[in-house]
Amino acid sequence: MQDCKILAHRGASAYAPENTLEAFRLAVQQHADGLEIDIHLTKDGEIVVIHDDTIDRTSDGKGDIMAYTLAELKAFRFNKGFEEQYPEAQIPTLREVLELVKEHDLYLNIEVKDILSKSELYNGLGKEAAKLVEEYGLSGQVIFSSFNHSSMVRLKESCPEMRTALLYIAGLYEGGKYAQMTGADALHPLYIGVNRELVEEAHAAGVQVNAWTVNDLEHIRMMLEAGVDAIITDRPDVCYPLREVNA
Ligand code: G3P
Ligand code: MG
Repeated sequence: MQDCKILAHRGASAYAPENTLEAFRLAVQQHADGLEIDIHLTKDGEIVVIHDDTIDRTSDGKGDIMAYTLAELKAFRFNKGFEEQYPEAQIPTLREVLELVKEHDLYLNIEVKDILSKSELYNGLGKEAAKLVEEYGLSGQVIFSSFNHSSMVRLKESCPEMRTALLYIAGLYEGGKYAQMTGADALHPLYIGVNRELVEEAHAAGVQVNAWTVNDLEHIRMMLEAGVDAIITDRPDVCYPLREVNA
């Protein structure tokens, strides 16, 4: 039907601890074309891959990420819910993920967690991450995203070669044109608001549409029919056969 990429949301996170190298490697085995990851900053300024701004939900520790150095964070196990299968899972750095991306020639969506209260603290996070992406020669296969649209505007201004995307949950008025005005390359909507009309409007503005987080058969089919450019999923193994049938 179209060339729709499969991006593993926090890795193959339905089957392995989210945002760990274990989940990313499993995504590769499940034929994902790329990964979606979330990034935060440690106390000593390292960029780490984790969704929440605390380690409570996903590790055997407690507290804010910003309260720990990288070395301290590495001592925790980030395997909540998967303790037996993945006893050693750690928090990865962005560097470790970029190495994996390079090794397997993957696409990578880096979601910068610089929303609201974090915005001042995390002002330079996107730019610092972009420097690393450039260092690894991966600009062509990376797209940054954030719910903080002004941070994506700033990132595009300082690194025009870096691709950016606007995350959102509900509808946007003329989303394609809005993305174009902000210099963004893609819209990243929650899948519920996605239909063919939205995708066509975005494509007419030269903007891609990558929908999240699409996990069940019915909604994966709907997204393929709507013509999205990528599906962000916890279950690449479910997405892959459907995409192949529709190709
Ligand atoms: O990037 C898509 C999706 O990850 C956005 O929401 O909360 O899962 O990071 P969240
Ligand atoms: Mg995310």
